[in-house]
Amino acid sequence: DRNVKIAPSILSADFANFGAEIRAVEAQGADWIHVDVMDGHFVPNLTFGPPLVKAIRPHISTVMDVHLMIAPVDPYIEAFAEAGADIITAHLEAGAHTHRTLQAIRACGAKAGLALNPGTPVEAAAPLLDLCDLVCLMTVNPGFGGQKFIHSQVAQVKKLREMIGDREIHIEIDGGVDPSTAPLVVEAGADVLVAGSAVFRGGSVDNPAPYGENIRAI
Ligand code: DX5
Ligand code: ZN
Repeated sequence: DRNVKIAPSILSADFANFGAEIRAVEAQGADWIHVDVMDGHFVPNLTFGPPLVKAIRPHISTVMDVHLMIAPVDPYIEAFAEAGADIITAHLEAGAHTHRTLQAIRACGAKAGLALNPGTPVEAAAPLLDLCDLVCLMTVNPGFGGQKFIHSQVAQVKKLREMIGDREIHIEIDGGVDPSTAPLVVEAGADVLVAGSAVFRGGSVDNPAPYGENIRAI
């Protein structure tokens, strides 16, 4: 009976209305707000940087979960911490010095997350776990919302849960989470589910009830 959290990704929200979208989805039951930062280099898509993250901070009353899909990542950690991120997640694949990156995140006062692409074996996280508050396993190749869940990642979730043991480290799943895939990863040991398209579909700031229905369905 793990307490499973839903973290809607604002990548699927109305970009011209982030403040209202965040308030609406929190009112409908979101546990965290997941913020996807992309640089057009580490991933083939661009979103936004620290000034926007800082601008939406006052609209978030839960937890601001910032997922950095950028390389290099180290030069930007302080800026995202100053923008008010509660959790900063960096990719193992973003550079050669992830150990240093995770230390730098904690030194800024944020919780540290480590994200792994689908092609990366979870065993690679073993030497880093004591520096992590969260491990994010990607269940799509990062870059875009609305992609298909990669089922072979479920076995990796299970492995990671065993590796973590009784340490207090969240396992977050990101990509293709919907009512059909969520039970698979929760069963395997995940406790934070990011969902973009499956939360925001069918609703809007003027009609937010579908957000709540979608969250409950997941
Ligand atoms: C993908 C992002 C995800 C994305 C998930 O690169 O990191 O957070 O928004 O979107 P869905 O839930 O639509 O797969
Ligand atoms: Zn994400």
